[in-house]
Amino acid sequence: MSKDKLNENKVLIAYSSRAGCTEEVALKIKEKLDTSSFEIKIFNVSDKDQFKSLNKQDINQYSSILLGSSIIKGKFHKNLNKFLKKLDSSSIKDKKLGFFICCMKACNPEKIDEAKNEYIIPNLEDYNLDFSIVDAFGGKLDFSPTSSMNSMIQKILKKIMLKDNLDLKEIESKVYDFRDWQQIDNFTSSWLNIISNM
Ligand SMILES: Cc1cc2nc3c(=O)[nH]c(=O)nc-3n(C[C@H](O)[C@H](O)[C@H](O)COP(=O)(O)O)c2cc1C
Repeated sequence: MSKDKLNENKVLIAYSSRAGCTEEVALKIKEKLDTSSFEIKIFNVSDKDQFKSLNKQDINQYSSILLGSSIIKGKFHKNLNKFLKKLDSSSIKDKKLGFFICCMKACNPEKIDEAKNEYIIPNLEDYNLDFSIVDAFGGKLDFSPTSSMNSMIQKILKKIMLKDNLDLKEIESKVYDFRDWQQIDNFTSSWLNIISNM
């Protein structure tokens, strides 16, 4: 028999996304969690209105909180940091916390640990929060002629991408999507396991 959707079964997903890559990942995770007995609420903190309504939420109604962010110039989105600060100052010791990022560095599976060490660990250091699971997923980059990124940013990102992916000899004018959906599915299963065994 499935569990009732009581307060202790409420899960919050809060994510930030600049161009939609992390949003698609967050929605994929929600899709899988929706098939469980948990009730999932999801907020895009990079959207002004959603960030406002998230801030009005009583955090204590959630038993677990999953956060996701893309990495822009080595950092999380500022609203995600604001939300982390709020969590840090709330008394949430009984809640399970998880974190994932989407970034270019994790495009190369061999660099996933490096991405975690470079972006997740130092950016979470300021907060006295205990995360049960963290992961770094490959990102999505649009180098197509209709890309919204300006040419200087494209040039910098192409250079870093070539450095991190020695298999790539040149960057073509197209959208590169390095997300590994199996890795994301495995992460979701592990997260589900963690929050089911509280
Ligand atoms: C301006 C800019 C800066 C970026 N800086 C980094 C970076 O410092 N490290 C990295 O690994 N990826 C970096 N990326 C890659 C993004 O993290 C990646 O494209 C991600 O998939 C974007 O997700 P989003 O669409 O959800 O924001 C950068 C991308 C842009 C556009």
